[in-house]
Amino acid sequence: MAKRNIIIAGNWKMNKTPFEARCLAYEIAEKTEGAACKVVLCVPFVDLFQVKEAIAGSGVCLGAQNVHWAESGAFTGEISADMLVACDVEYVVIGHSERRQYFGETDATVNARTKAALAKGLKVILCVGETREERELDETQAVIERQIRLGLADLSEQDMENVVIAYEPVWAIGTGLTATAEQAQEVCAYIRTLLAELYTPDVADATTIQYGGSMNAKNARELLSMPDIDGGLIGGASLKPADFLVIVAAGSAEATKA
Ligand code: 13P
Repeated sequence: MAKRNIIIAGNWKMNKTPFEARCLAYEIAEKTEGAACKVVLCVPFVDLFQVKEAIAGSGVCLGAQNVHWAESGAFTGEISADMLVACDVEYVVIGHSERRQYFGETDATVNARTKAALAKGLKVILCVGETREERELDETQAVIERQIRLGLADLSEQDMENVVIAYEPVWAIGTGLTATAEQAQEVCAYIRTLLAELYTPDVADATTIQYGGSMNAKNARELLSMPDIDGGLIGGASLKPADFLVIVAAGSAEATKA
């Protein structure tokens, strides 16, 4: 089996002014020197430049939290893939549940944004996940299947080399309620099965699938030790350097396992 990239990504959401961002990114870059896993910081647009400077020369990668599907034009408040590329952004989060919940993001817009990002050479962290109600109604697999099929519609096998999937159960985000390692593993394994069906077993084996939702310094090791969980997308704990470093260390330990 191809060894997958283990990716620990911080999603700072709507936190940190440019100055605060610079300080936090600098500390993380300094203290994750030599990490065996990939470390990505997905920061607010206005922080990109400061964070880019703070992580320069380190192994940390720069990420954004959204991208528009159009090349340019009358889309007030939006940011294009070209703009992100010009800021040296490497990764972009697309389809986060907060975008789906509060900003009208749909599977179709997730797909359009994903295609636009990939066409410009960005790597996409595509988020999927069920709500508490959907889980209680036993609809988890159906929801994940729909989000994966429609989110990845028209993407080629080659495109998939630049796609990371983040499984983020909505009920676990920012709530302190983490999916158990078994619950998270079950859905991540299911996503891998879907990728094998949609593409090939090799594509499924090579795709990094992250877990996100109240991942923290205490539970990261157990979650990351599961066979189909290849990293984390971390919100709250990514703003606390000490906690984030513990999670990166857990990711590094996984990355160096034989
Ligand atoms: P928390 O880690 O704060 O639960 O957020 C997870 C998340 O939404 C990352 O994208």
